Amino acid sequence: MSYDFDRLTDRRASNSIKWGFYPGDVLPLWVADMDFPAPAPVIEALRAAVEHGVFGYELPSPKMYEVVAQRMTRLYDWQVAPEQVVAVPGLVTGFNVAARIAAAPGDGILMQTPVYFPFLSVHENVGLVRQTAPLKPVSHGRTLRYEVDWDLFESAVHAGGARTRMFLLCNPHNPTGIAYSRADLTRMAEICDREDILICSDEIHSELLLGETQHIPIASLSPKIAARTITLVAPSKTFNVAGLFCGFAVIQDADLRERFVKEVKRLTLHVNSLGLISAQAALTGECDDWLAALNRYLTANRDFVADYVRDNLPGIRTTVPDATYLAWLDCNELIGSGKIEGSPHEFFLNEAKVALNDGATFGPGGDGFVRLNFGCPRETLVEALERMKAALATV
Ligand SMILES: Cc1ncc(COP(=O)(O)O)c(C=O)c1O
Repeated sequence: MSYDFDRLTDRRASNSIKWGFYPGDVLPLWVADMDFPAPAPVIEALRAAVEHGVFGYELPSPKMYEVVAQRMTRLYDWQVAPEQVVAVPGLVTGFNVAARIAAAPGDGILMQTPVYFPFLSVHENVGLVRQTAPLKPVSHGRTLRYEVDWDLFESAVHAGGARTRMFLLCNPHNPTGIAYSRADLTRMAEICDREDILICSDEIHSELLLGETQHIPIASLSPKIAARTITLVAPSKTFNVAGLFCGFAVIQDADLRERFVKEVKRLTLHVNSLGLISAQAALTGECDDWLAALNRYLTANRDFVADYVRDNLPGIRTTVPDATYLAWLDCNELIGSGKIEGSPHEFFLNEAKVALNDGATFGPGGDGFVRLNFGCPRETLVEALERMKAALATV
């Protein structure tokens, strides 16, 4: 079947943060949602629920847990049982709950920066010490690829005298776009096992796989690693239903799961019924053909961005992400040469009328970068890049 990802959908009339935050002359390529409608089976399931018309309290259906468990087994050959799946209102909620059960005030939480900004405030929410293991950018001509710096990783463990209790992994990684290799995941897992650290793995981008990329859940490495891991998955990024707030924690160790569920109850967290309905429709497999087409479209957009930046935006280097719809643009050369003064985010917002995410908000290693969301029709992407090129031509 063919799907029309080129079609423009007007989102300005909705309550979209991405499209509503900046004035109407700004083209927004920032917040991580896509400008495409969700796949038809998701919309049909939501329509049926709306037409039923009664929106009383609901529980996730037993089928919902089966659908998530079966998807893990089908995609990754990772044996997950339905009772090992816990519904959560979102993944940011999920990793905050995980930190609350993993660590006590004064303990350490480890993460790899630059990183999705809500990671950076978990320590404040829970009273922990943030321990950062910066990823290492490596240049390949005009493109960038991030790697794990193992010395920095090892030295961040228990840094500052705080015992590291949780490693908050982002795989695939936002904003650098890395889908970690089996070798990297194994090494991280071995360190966590050696130091008795719980792993919370945010895998929200795991199905937005570009080109030939494969995703490996860290918990699928071995039952031993699974026993110390909370894996967070969701339909939200993949099927563009982020505003419906529904995600899942896969927790195979019974004791860990019990503690997680208890904290979810203590915080009185509930998952939105329409979110669960969308998740069930999205994850059954009915939308997989749409997803394969989406990933082909996003791969072509990724390659278009990389070529365009190389050929038309001198002084900028981009990542070529393995996964996600996020390109991470290094503008430090332009800052160093004085062509851009201050933040590139402000420069492109004011001079190009293009809204990108400010790299500085992604923590250490983010200064001088912007994040560009290419989850949009090609026409929008071209317009944004041309505006950026025109703005750079004036400096
Ligand atoms: C790595 C990562 N985790 C979590 C989220 C958001 O998750 P949720 O909306 O389910 O809280 C995002 C959104 O961009 C993300 O990139």
